[in-house]
Amino acid sequence: MPRKLVVANWKMHGNLASNQQLLDAYIQKLTPLKNTDVVVCVPYPYLAQAQSILQNTTIAWGAQNLSKDAVGAFTGEVSASMLKDFGASYVIIGHSERATAYCESDENIATKFMQAKSHGLTPILCVGETLIEREAGVMEMVVAKQIDTIMNMYGAAIFANTVVSYEPIWAIGSGLAASAEQAQSMHEFIRGRIACADKGAAASLKILYGGSVNPQNAVQLFAMPDIDGGLIGKCSLSASEFDGICRAAT
Ligand code: 13P
Repeated sequence: MPRKLVVANWKMHGNLASNQQLLDAYIQKLTPLKNTDVVVCVPYPYLAQAQSILQNTTIAWGAQNLSKDAVGAFTGEVSASMLKDFGASYVIIGHSERATAYCESDENIATKFMQAKSHGLTPILCVGETLIEREAGVMEMVVAKQIDTIMNMYGAAIFANTVVSYEPIWAIGSGLAASAEQAQSMHEFIRGRIACADKGAAASLKILYGGSVNPQNAVQLFAMPDIDGGLIGKCSLSASEFDGICRAAT
């Protein structure tokens, strides 16, 4: 069975003292897990702290965004090579909280995906539909467009050994997770769409589910054949809840 991947997305939470406590608890609880890879994506200023606490453990770390440009006069931006300087191995791209608030286009997100991949970072591409789009029955069309923009710009092979996270916008932070069947159906659709263009890339891709995952619903979600793990917001801020989710994956 392929290894599951569980990623903590801390969003804009934490400070030096609380991060230290939370990461110490992660290490204590999660490093004994054998069949699950665990990653924590922290706010930029805490990458150095994550590196110093997590190096030489089995927990990897990453960021929640990166610049679409490699270097230059882009005030406030952070490049892929800067993330690498702090030992990051993953980066979340196109999270709906950013795409909505900062008007990120699918093309911008695609360029960020390529930047991450070409610098040896594993991109975690977030895709998903709004409630209105689901109710209108166009959720697969919406997700297909997000995936196709990257395939059209860079080719399907770019998805090899990367991560896509299906995060229906209506499920994020709402306490209302997608059902295991709803998530499985979309995950199968995503893998199939990429497989049509590149079977090998689709087989090596991990597809996570994100949106109100908790230790209880994780059991059913992670039992689905195309759900390779989760991207966890709120519950990743509690070591015991995050541990419960990681154990459901194991
Ligand atoms: P919640 O787990 O808080 O719903 O957040 C999900 C998410 O946005 C992960 O990126």
